[in-house]
Parts: sequence; C-alpha cells; structure tokens
Amino acid sequence: RDYWVVVPAAGTGKRMGADRPKQYLPLMGRPLLSLTLENVLSWPGLAGIVVALSKEDGFFPHLKEAQNPKVHTVIGGAERADSVLAALTYLIGRAVDDTPVLVHDAARPCITRRDIGALLDEGVSPIALLARPASDTVKQSRTLDGAPCAEQTLDRRRIWLAQTPQRAPLHLLYSCLSRALKQGKTVTDEASALEMYGHSPQLVAVQGDNLKVTHPFDLLVAEAILRLRYAPTED
Ligand code: CTP
Ligand code: MG
Repeated sequence: RDYWVVVPAAGTGKRMGADRPKQYLPLMGRPLLSLTLENVLSWPGLAGIVVALSKEDGFFPHLKEAQNPKVHTVIGGAERADSVLAALTYLIGRAVDDTPVLVHDAARPCITRRDIGALLDEGVSPIALLARPASDTVKQSRTLDGAPCAEQTLDRRRIWLAQTPQRAPLHLLYSCLSRALKQGKTVTDEASALEMYGHSPQLVAVQGDNLKVTHPFDLLVAEAILRLRYAPTED
C-alpha cells in the first residue's frame, strides 16, 4: 500500500544556535535535510514526499533531492503543527482520503529502514508512531518557592518518548489537526492531535538510533551513528 511522507522542515533551530537552520548544517559533509530526504526516498512503497519549508528558505533549491520528481514543497507556518497542516492541505485532493501519511521530522536523519518496516507492518494499527520506552524515572513537578519540586513519580513502565515517523490516514489526520489548531490547542506532535479526539495511536518500540538533532552535540552523535552504520565490516 503506497503512502505519502510529510517532512516538516520550516523550523529555525533556535536551540542549535547556528548561523542557519539546523536542517541545513553539514552532516557527513552534506546538508542534514539532504540525508533525511535521501533516506526517505529509499523507503519501499513511497508515493511521494511533501516538504514544508520556511518562507525565507534559500537553501532548499541547492539540495540534490530538490530535483527529484517525488519531492514536493509547501510553505510551512509558525509552529510545527502549522507546517504539517500546510503539507496535508496540499495532499487533500491529490491523494485518496485514506492514504497512509507518515510525518517525519527533517531533524531525524538516522531513522532505519527496519523501524520504518515495523511501523508499516500489517499487524500494526494504521494510527501509530515510533516511540522509545523511558529509561529514566520520570517525575511530575510543581513549583514551590520558585523551585521545581517533585510532586509525584509516574509509572515508568507506562511512559514512552514520542519520535517520528507518526502515521495516520490522510483525512483523519487532517481533520484532527485542523480542529485542534482551530480550537487553539497546543499540538506538539500528530499523535497528540489524534488523542484529543478519542484515538489511541499504537506505540511501536523503536529499535535503531533515531535521535532528533536539537543541540550542537547531537550533530556529533548523529555523525557517529551514521559512520558506524555505514562502516565497511572487516572479515
Ligand atoms: N518545524 C517546522 N515548522 C515550524 C517549526 C518546526 O516545520 N514552524 C520542523 C523543524 O524544521 C524540525 C521539526 O519540525 O524538522 C521538529 O522541530 P524542532 O526539532 O523543534 O526544530 P526547530 O523548531 O527548528 O528547533 P528549535 O525548537 O530548537 O527552534
Ligand atoms: Mg521547535
């Protein structure tokens, strides 16, 4: 079953603090977004990619993937959810209502084919996301005399850290996301918009390293992950 991939890439990378948005910083000697798109383009069953870009973006046309006929672009918005909604709006009318859509952060270049396979597996719900079970103990806090204090400890066995891709049928995702934004709700990932309207996305445990490049140190880690993965094995 063919699916579309939406890649939000309209952020400014504030936490990275570089001279350009982090998706254009060099990784393995290439712009990070170029690696992410090359990775997505290799997934079997891909119908196409919609990349959401900032209005001011001047870097994208220089990527080699910009020439690929499967790569489409739209102008994103102020928040990640606005960028995703712009891409979904582009797809409405171009793809059938129940087309699976996978939303994948531009800033996650290391996602593995194996994890994509797991998310797309026939036995998995059409509404699902990759996630990592928490390994640290999680505290819920409240502020006491200006300092954060632990209020209670959450049951770690039930805590998962959401990653991407996150998948849902096109029309369902579009309607939940647009409703949530219209109601002024904060939508940090696609799954949260689905949860608001009674859906329970399946959590698929991620196996490979799928870090989101956020801070400067993450670039080094991402480079190490990719180098190890592609290192020729000696025997
Ligand atoms: N994103 C987007 N549109 C926005 C904000 C973010 O398309 N208005 C994208 C980013 O480009 C990134 C993904 O959403 O690929 C995840 O967001 P995040 O890691 O937070 O990236 P930034 O928002 O760019 O970084 P920061 O929060 O540090 O500013
Ligand atoms: Mg952000």
